[in-house]
This record gives sequence, C-alpha cells and structure tokens, in this order.
Amino acid sequence: MADMIRQPIGVFDSGVGGLTVVRALMERIPFEDIIYFGDTARVPYGVKSVETVTQYAVEITDFLLKKGVKLLVIACNTVAAVAGDAVRSRSPMPVLDVIDAGARSAVRETRSGHIGVIGTPATINSNAYARAIHALDPATRIFSQACPLFVPLVEEGWLDHPVTRITANEYLKPVLAEHLDTLVLGCTHYPLLKPLLGEIAGPEVHLVDSGEAMADATADLLAELHLGNPRREKPSYSCYVSDVPFRFQTMAERFLGRTIGHVELVKL
Ligand code: DGL
Repeated sequence: MADMIRQPIGVFDSGVGGLTVVRALMERIPFEDIIYFGDTARVPYGVKSVETVTQYAVEITDFLLKKGVKLLVIACNTVAAVAGDAVRSRSPMPVLDVIDAGARSAVRETRSGHIGVIGTPATINSNAYARAIHALDPATRIFSQACPLFVPLVEEGWLDHPVTRITANEYLKPVLAEHLDTLVLGCTHYPLLKPLLGEIAGPEVHLVDSGEAMADATADLLAELHLGNPRREKPSYSCYVSDVPFRFQTMAERFLGRTIGHVELVKL
C-alpha cells in the first residue's frame, strides 16, 4: 500500500480527446503522476464495432497495467460504453469511467428531468448513458443524438468555424426541441466545442463536461481508498501514442491548455 500510493494514474482515450480529462485531473489532483495513452493510430473509435473497440481497449489496459498504474481512468466514452466491462474484468486495479461520472453529474444538475446526451454513434447506440442515468433516477427523460462529425471537426481544430456551427445547429435542433435543462457532452472531444455548444443551447441549458465530472470522481475514489499520493512535489506526466499524426502536438497542447513535453511512440 505504501508503494502503491506513489504509483501513477493511467488515463486513456482513442486519441487526444482524453486530454480534456487529464487537464481536469491536473487541476483537481495536482500532485498525482499521470500516464496517458492516446491510440492516435486507430482513432476514431466511435464508428467502429464493439469487437474492435473491445480488442483495442484490452490492449491499452494491459499496456498501462504493465506501467504499474494504481488506478485506470477510461477517458473515452466510446470505450466506456462498449468495453467498460472488458476493461474492468482485466484490471486488478480500480477502474473509473467517464459515463458513470457524467451520468452522476447530469442527475445532480437537472431540475426538469429532461436530459440530452450527445456522443459518438457507438456511445449513443449502446444506450449506456440512458442506462446509467436511469439507474440513478428512473424518472428522468433522456434525449440522445449521435454527432459523428464532431470528432473530425475538433481534430481539425475547427472549434468555431462556420461549418462546425452549421453542423452543431443541425445536430442539436431535435434534442433542444425537448426543452432540456441539461446536456451531457458524452465524448471527451466535445468540451473543446463548449463555447459554441453553450451559445447554441442557450444559458438555460447546463452543459455537463465529462472531464470535470471525472476529475471529481477520481479525487473522491483516491480519498475513499486512501490511495492519494502524499508527496507534495511537481508530478511527472508521460504521454504515449500509437502514432504521431501531423497535428498531434498542436492539438494536444490545445486540449491540455499547456505545452507538453516528450511524447513517446509505442506499438501495442
Ligand atoms: N473521445 C472519444 C469518446 O469520448 C471519441 C473519439 C472517437 O470516436 O474515437 O467517445
């Protein structure tokens, strides 16, 4: 146990999107070491089959467990939705995922009980958010919308581009017609679109950012399991990827809101 508390937290996503979760973790638990894995060679996951995403998720889980992480954070809604159980059954370490955190936050925020969820096609088709939210409050009504074009638009850095605005208006129209007061950003790429989505949804709709919800859940679990790192020094952050695509560094720094050091390429 004494050794375990000093081990890093493992965080992963299909690409750079999970860095929105890392950013929230850095702010919320600033003394924890973090190892991040982004499967940049195989992104996007959101349009792939359950079998493929599960196989990828298991490979990444093994990689991070070998690195000696004390806790695994699935910072990808798509993985959490279709392969969360596979990761949990593989890991002797505790596993947290964004869907659980996002669902809790949505139920806490809503007053009207009308909750919108946007995500990748795999996440929306899995119905994982509706199940998680209904398990917490069966009286809520969920309105879901898959937004397959958002991930490529974000990866391209078109965060406030007219094309993104038109696309967002189109995707959000049917869900906003349901008089929501809460909209879950059910993909870790989407917090980068928060200003634009907030403008379209209007001030009466609360946007649930899975990164912030995840950071709170991680801090709570570390406290509950007495796994928080007591050291009060500058933590170490490592970033591993399966490919270094053209815009990776720029996008990663935008996701993280700070410069990143060395990014290591690994083959799983
Ligand atoms: N960031 C991933 C998620 O949260 C989606 C990206 C992808 O489609 O790979 O679902």
